Formats: sequence, C-alpha cells, structure tokens
Amino acid sequence: MSEWFDVGHADDFAEGEVAAARAGSQAVAVFRLGEEIFALKDLCTHGNAKLSDGYVEDGCVECPLHQGLFDIRSGAPRCAPVTEAVRSFPVRVVAGRVEIGVG
Ligand code: FES
Repeated sequence: MSEWFDVGHADDFAEGEVAAARAGSQAVAVFRLGEEIFALKDLCTHGNAKLSDGYVEDGCVECPLHQGLFDIRSGAPRCAPVTEAVRSFPVRVVAGRVEIGVG
C-alpha cells in the first residue's frame, strides 16, 4: 500500500527537464514525457550521483557522473556502466497536483 506525497503542480514539470523532489523519506527525480509524469529514485545505481543532476534525452536520463542511461518510464538500465535498474515510483495526478506513491 503506497502513501502518496504531493510534489507540486503538474505544470511545474517540463518536458526535457528533470526536477528534484522529496516524497516522504525518498529523494526523487521527476520527469515529464508528453502528458505523463514519471518519478525515479534520485540516486544512480552505479555510484553516488543524483539523477536530478542528469540530462534527459530520448526518454532516458543520463547520469552526470559516468553517463550511464536509465529508461525514465521504468528505471531500467539502458547503457553501460549502469547494469541495475533504479527504483521507479508510481505517479498520479489529482486535481492538477502530482503525487508520488511510496510504499
Ligand atoms: Fe551513475 Fe556511474 S554513478 S553511471
């Protein structure tokens, strides 16, 4: 069962950008792809780097430290040196507000 945390208005999240947010105890990186919003744990699985400091391209986020790529929709690794998926959190939009589920 997830607990839902408000991280801002849907309009605050722009295509091609990544925003750092906090959902309860979790630091999250928040992305917009078209009409959908996605949230990943804000820590690379390869080292101590924040994905919210990374670069968004083609539905992926590039880690700022060694340029590993994660799929924004799933957290799956897409390019070396990352081999382990980063945690993906459920997102819902309620009355224009973005909520991230942590459970
Ligand atoms: Fe992210 Fe190395 S710390 S790719």
